[in-house]
Amino acid sequence: MFLLRPIHALLALICSVNAFPAHQSLAGLTREELDAVVPTLNFVRPPNPPGPLADDSTKLVNDAAHPFIPPGPNDQRGPCPALNTLASHGYLSRNGIVSPAEVINAVQDAFNLENSFARFLVFSTFLVNGNPITNLMSIGAKTSATGPSPPPPATVAGLDTHNNCEGDTSMTRGMSLLPLQPYYSLQTPLADFFFGDNHSFNETRFQNVVNFSNKFGAGKFNLTVATELRNFLFQDSLMHNPTFSMVSPRLFTAYAETVFPINFFIDGRDKSGQLDLNVARGFFQHMTFPADFHRHDGAISNEGVDTVFNTHPIVPGANQGRVNSYKADPTSATLSEPCTRYTTFVERNIKSLYPNPTGVLKEALNVNLQFLFDATVAAGENCVQVFPFGR
Ligand code: HEM
Ligand SMILES: *[C@@H]1O[C@H](CO)[C@@H](O)[C@H](O)[C@H]1NC(C)=O
Ligand SMILES: *[C@@H]1O[C@H](CO)[C@@H](O)[C@H](O)[C@H]1NC(C)=O
Ligand SMILES: *[C@@H]1O[C@H](CO)[C@@H](O)[C@H](O)[C@H]1NC(C)=O
Ligand SMILES: *[C@@H]1O[C@H](CO)[C@@H](O)[C@H](O)[C@H]1NC(C)=O
Repeated sequence: MFLLRPIHALLALICSVNAFPAHQSLAGLTREELDAVVPTLNFVRPPNPPGPLADDSTKLVNDAAHPFIPPGPNDQRGPCPALNTLASHGYLSRNGIVSPAEVINAVQDAFNLENSFARFLVFSTFLVNGNPITNLMSIGAKTSATGPSPPPPATVAGLDTHNNCEGDTSMTRGMSLLPLQPYYSLQTPLADFFFGDNHSFNETRFQNVVNFSNKFGAGKFNLTVATELRNFLFQDSLMHNPTFSMVSPRLFTAYAETVFPINFFIDGRDKSGQLDLNVARGFFQHMTFPADFHRHDGAISNEGVDTVFNTHPIVPGANQGRVNSYKADPTSATLSEPCTRYTTFVERNIKSLYPNPTGVLKEALNVNLQFLFDATVAAGENCVQVFPFGR
């Protein structure tokens, strides 16, 4: 999985160092590559992240100040239906190039995502997918507007990428989402049952959601549907994907994402817990709020995830290169071990992406790692802070 990052970053580098996109992740670059790239970027010291909303009651979100405008050809859209929708309504920059603080403000304002949860989600994603020096991240892929087209050697690198990672690329939503893959490892096509990017929105996969909603939710997507669908996707991946893996941090996002549509895409005035499938399609395929959409009444995060997990519990683990060869991974955090999640994410994932940062890069990483740890404190998790790059 992590193979993708360096090769993709290198490809961008080969294209032109001077045109290194300001929002592109630096994760995985070698010392030499970083030495070439970092001096070309302006260090933007990130502001402290926003705090919770003063008023978290429901309110009209699809308002006159935030009209839907379809993305243009150079606007970024990616795998997250929420961020896509926020960009298409102007709660995020419509071009899809964002800063962490901008994302936290937008997910709070328009969806009422709880502050500490939003901060952990945003900074963990940003540390992997964003550019800590410029403080920018693309919610999709690299844009053609950020640099000249790759000359022929870069095309070779791209083909190499494809060949090296065939097991993964054959299961993805398409090359356009490469920047988001190394951390949010993709599983079988069916495991990615929702497609946020309407260029790769997959009607077959959505029909699977429809079928489950018909079978378990009388035509609506509710917590029972989410529970049975999550279990089906796990079993399906187990039986069909030889490289299927379900360990932290993906474990956390995989389960949270199943309940997110219920918690955030149902109008805040509706307390039924039943998501209409046309509304769901609006978010996932068309990246738009329904008319008159009001946000959830009160801050909320992954409520319901315990039901999803406890109904069909699993142990974190992975297939061993063959289908149905799942082996437990005792080093992975479980859903009830948020501090192990934090520690291993920093010491394994981030450290492997940035083995030996120096100068402003180290400074920028440390600022963002501090924000990540602060989010665990805000969540009341009592974790011990780790410093992979010193203080
Ligand atoms: C209220 C806020 C949010 C909601 C309702 C939401 C919802 C979702 C859902 C339902 C998915 C699954 C899509 C799929 O399986 O194709 C998803 C995927 C994703 N979201 Fe969000 N999200 C929210 C906030 C965020 C934030 C703040 C970030 C990070 C900055 C983020 C990053 C992602 C990423 C990277 C994926 C792809 C995961 C994968 O590869 O499967 N989301 N989101
Ligand atoms: C859509 O998903 C189905 C089921 O996973 C898969 O067989 C099909 O190839 C996908 N279609 C596209 C266009 O990606
Ligand atoms: C959904 O159900 C219909 C009707 O039973 C079936 O024809 C179709 O193959 C199912 N689709 C998926 C993706 O399971
Ligand atoms: C989901 O919908 C089905 C069918 O109406 C219902 O039996 C079930 O209790 C619902 N589950 C939840 C959590 O609302
Ligand atoms: C993608 O979304 C845009 C904006 O909603 C819409 O105009 C277009 O028809 C959609 N394309 C597909 C294939 O769904």
